[in-house]
Amino acid sequence: MIYITRKEHFNAAHKLFNPNWTDEKNNEVFGKCANPNWHGHNYTLYITVKGEINNETGYTVNLKELSTIIRKHVCDVFDHKNLNLDVDYFKTIQASTENVAIVIWNILADKVKNIGGTLHCVKLYETENNFVEYFGGK
Ligand code: NI
Repeated sequence: MIYITRKEHFNAAHKLFNPNWTDEKNNEVFGKCANPNWHGHNYTLYITVKGEINNETGYTVNLKELSTIIRKHVCDVFDHKNLNLDVDYFKTIQASTENVAIVIWNILADKVKNIGGTLHCVKLYETENNFVEYFGGK
């Protein structure tokens, strides 16, 4: 078993806001992240796939195919969008880094299987200092 990672980027806006709370409570919990007029992040995404090495190619998966899948199904959907307003996944859940990573996992898991690998980890940097890793499951 070997692990291989592809790095991609997207930029997106969001805010963290719980509509069941008062503005005061949102500001208390989320601070600047609750700014009503949104804010943006330069997200960096690391998709790690595991699998066996194909003797004929020496590859686990073809990274060009993996990149194409990530760009088409994640980056093109999220890039330069307002996650809360433009992306259906976040109509009912907070567009937090945690939830964005889980949504990306759910988008990619089957598609990675189709190119012969198994999705191992979605690692998503929201800022240089803050990132989330999701390995599937609860
Ligand atoms: Ni934010």
